[in-house]
Formats: sequence, structure tokens, C-alpha cells
Amino acid sequence: MGKFSKFVNWMDQRTGGRRILPLFTALPLEGKPSLRKTLIFLVIALTIFEGITGCFLSMSYSPGVSAAYPSVKYQMQETTAGHLLRSLHAYGAHLIAALLLLCLVERIQARGYRTPNEIKWVLGLLMGGILIIIATTGYLLPWDQYGYWGTKVRTSILGSVPLLGPILKSIALGGPEIGNLALTRFYALHALFLPSMLMAFFLLYLSTTLFLRSGKDEISGACCYWPEQAWRDALCGAGVFLALYVFSVCMPVQLGAVANPLETYPARPEWYFRWLFETLKYCPPPWEFIGSVLIPHLILLFLVLIPWIDNGARNHRKAVILVSLLLLAAVCGLSGLSVWQDVQSGHFKEVALWEVEPEPGFDSEKFYKKECQNCHGRDGSGYLETTPDFSSEDYWKSSPSEVRLLKAILEGVDDQNIPEDERMPAFASKLSPAQAKALLVDKIHWFKPGDRSGD
Ligand code: HEC
Repeated sequence: MGKFSKFVNWMDQRTGGRRILPLFTALPLEGKPSLRKTLIFLVIALTIFEGITGCFLSMSYSPGVSAAYPSVKYQMQETTAGHLLRSLHAYGAHLIAALLLLCLVERIQARGYRTPNEIKWVLGLLMGGILIIIATTGYLLPWDQYGYWGTKVRTSILGSVPLLGPILKSIALGGPEIGNLALTRFYALHALFLPSMLMAFFLLYLSTTLFLRSGKDEISGACCYWPEQAWRDALCGAGVFLALYVFSVCMPVQLGAVANPLETYPARPEWYFRWLFETLKYCPPPWEFIGSVLIPHLILLFLVLIPWIDNGARNHRKAVILVSLLLLAAVCGLSGLSVWQDVQSGHFKEVALWEVEPEPGFDSEKFYKKECQNCHGRDGSGYLETTPDFSSEDYWKSSPSEVRLLKAILEGVDDQNIPEDERMPAFASKLSPAQAKALLVDKIHWFKPGDRSGD
């Protein structure tokens, strides 16, 4: 006996390892191997990938209101492949959400929920739900405007639930407002609680796949996972990860402006909650819970009950397909409508203003003298009755948001109470957003009392 097989024997006697490999190769497969079945494999592979990239991200992340944003910035700018890592982690989550939706459609279409798969179906829904909550809790962590205000909207929806709402909200946030405790809680949920729950449910799911079906499939001579399905999974997996990598390199995710509770940011939910966001628009305050609680729960209830609506005894297959298609159409339609409305109202342009960086080298001094000084004055206090006094403390006390000021410069202020020749004109034709931002940072902010000392 060679040294290696001796070692293998030694290990086997202590671990039972030889029986593990056959468990994998004999993994039963329902029906024929096919590319559609790779969907579930892709979700699992990406979830593991998110776990690994998440571990690396956590090595430089610091969950605290004042430390979170700089720690993410540091991670992106200073650590090896840090920006790439964060992009992979963020895009990976979007990809999982998209694949989950495809999985759901595929399973319903293939009747994957029928006897004896009812429990696996429910477990699958549960794990999908947990994955989505993991993704949602992740948005707050970088502590930028997008995550902060998005979470504010989500938790206020949670708070609108009748009776239980306020309690659930204060449990999630650890207090009345989004602060240090909320951030720490979200981090714990995102990185510890929910992934552990997911793992436990996955073990259950795996054991039902392994042990429940193996007896039956051996008799019917059904396919095994290995090697027919395995190479399909491997090939698709390689393709998807390559695409994810290329996408992350070409379009790395950005870090928005740091969270500021005083400046209302036009928050939008992630794309997979757009339909809910749109639904809520049609539910004014006292009826908010219809959109935020009732409708999502009815949909969930329907999904959970599918195996019992369409089974051997009651063949309501057509009803299941019809309701599913209607739901899918409603979700797609509402999402599309929501995006379209945002395009119409200039929401995306406004969001871009929040992210704009001042153009380096722009001659703000010269531009101000030529175009602004006549009204706003040499020292920013303004020559006209109607111009704001940028040199007074009272003006800055109201903490006007950067975006309001940028919009005023680019689009003008159409104030009917002011004589036409004194109104704030629009400068969009003379200034790019980056130049307007430079003007704001170099000139307008410079008038701020207290800030002037440095110059
Ligand atoms: C014709 C006079 C005029 C000129 C020229 C002008 N402004 Fe104004 N600006 C105003 C008036 C009047 C307001 C107040 C508008 C209101 O609130 O109705 C204003 C408002 C603003 C605001 C918004 C303040 C706020 O709190 O919302 C900013 C920022 C600003 N101007 C910057 C500039 C810059 C930069 C320039 C030059 C590129 C400029 N303005 C040129 C008259 C002028």
C-alpha cells in the first residue's frame, strides 16, 4: 500500500470521509439535466461568494456613525483590490435578487412544488426572503445618503404597520432614530444573524434533497447530479462570475455623499422593491398599511400555498399560472411606471447632482465677478433687497442643502415676487454641474462666516 492511500485510510477511519464524496456524486436529480437547473446552483454559488467577499469587507469595516463612512472610503481607496471587492459584493447581491426571481418563475413553470416537494418549496421561499433581507440591511452599512435615506423610508413603512409597527421599528433601530445602535444592529443582522439562519435552513433543504428523494429516484432510474448536471453548472458558473468580474472592473460602484439627516435626499428603494414603492404612492397615510403590509403578505401567502392549490387532488394548475402571470405583470408594470415617472420628473438628474464633484482648475473667481457679482455683491451679502445674504450667519443656520443651491445656480429661481430683471437666472447653458459645484465650493461657501478665516 502506497503512502498516500495509507494516509487516506487513516483519515477515513477518523472522519468517514469516503462516504461524503458518494453523497455528492449520487445527489439525485429530478428529471433530465438541463440549463434551467443551473439557476439554483448559481444562487448558491453566488451566496457563498457573497459570504467570502463579505468576510474580506468586514476586515476593514467599522460600524459606527462617525467611523462607517470613512472606513468604507478607506477600504475602497487604500486597501488592495478594495474597490473591486466592494463592487463584486454589491453587484453580486443584485445578481442574486435577479436570479431568485428567475428561479421562482422557473420552479412555478416546471411545477417544482408538487408532492413530495412542498416542504422544499416553502424552505426555498424562506431562504429567498432571508437573502433579500440580508441585501436590504446591507445598504445602510456604508452610511451614505443613499443608504441612510433608503433605510429611513423602509423603517417608516415598517412603523406604519398597525399595532405592531412602532414596536418592530424600534426593535430594528434600537431607538426612535437611525443612529449608532441601528447601524450596529443592521451590521449584526447582515453579517451574523441572517447568514446563520440561512445556513441552518440550507442544511435542512440539503438533507431533504439528499435523503428524502434518494430511495424513490434509484427505482425510477432518474439522473444523478454528477456528472451531467455538474458540468453545466460549472460552465454557467464560470460565465456568470466572469461577467460579474468584467462588470465590476468596468463600472465599479461609487460611494455617495456621507449621510446627513438634515438634508432630505430623494431616496428610492432597490429595483426589486420598486413595485412596492409605486404601490405605496396610491395608499395615502391612513391606508398605508394596505400597500406596505396587506398586499405583500397576500402575495407571500399565495406563493406559500401554491403546492396545496395545485396538487394531485385539486388540479388548479391554470389558476396558479394565471395568478402568477398577473402578479408578474403587475410587478413589472408598476416598476416600469415608477422608473418612467422618475425619468419624467428629472429625479435621476437631481440624484446625479448629489454625486457631482467640483471641476478642478475652474476659474470660479473670474466667473463670479463677471456673472454673479452684480446681484450677489463682492462679499456675497447681495446688492439687491431680494438676494440672499451669504455672509450672514442666519442664512447658513437654515443649512440649505448643496443640491438646492446647485439647482438654483443651474436652473435659476423662478420667483414671481421678484422683478424679472432681478430674478436668479439659470446658468445651465454657461456652466456644467461640475463647474457650478466648483463655484459653490470656491465662492459661495467662502462667504460663510467662520469659514473665511482659512483663506
Ligand atoms: C439678476 C441677479 C442675479 C444674478 C446675476 C445671480 N443671482 Fe443668484 N440669486 C438672485 C436672487 C434674487 C436669488 C434669490 C432667489 C429666491 O429665493 O427667490 C438668488 C439665489 C441664489 C442662490 C440660492 C440661494 C438659496 O438659498 O436658495 C444661489 C446659490 C445663487 N443665487 C448663486 C448665484 C451664482 C453662483 C451666480 C452667478 C453664476 C448668481 N447667483 C447670479 C439673483 C441673482
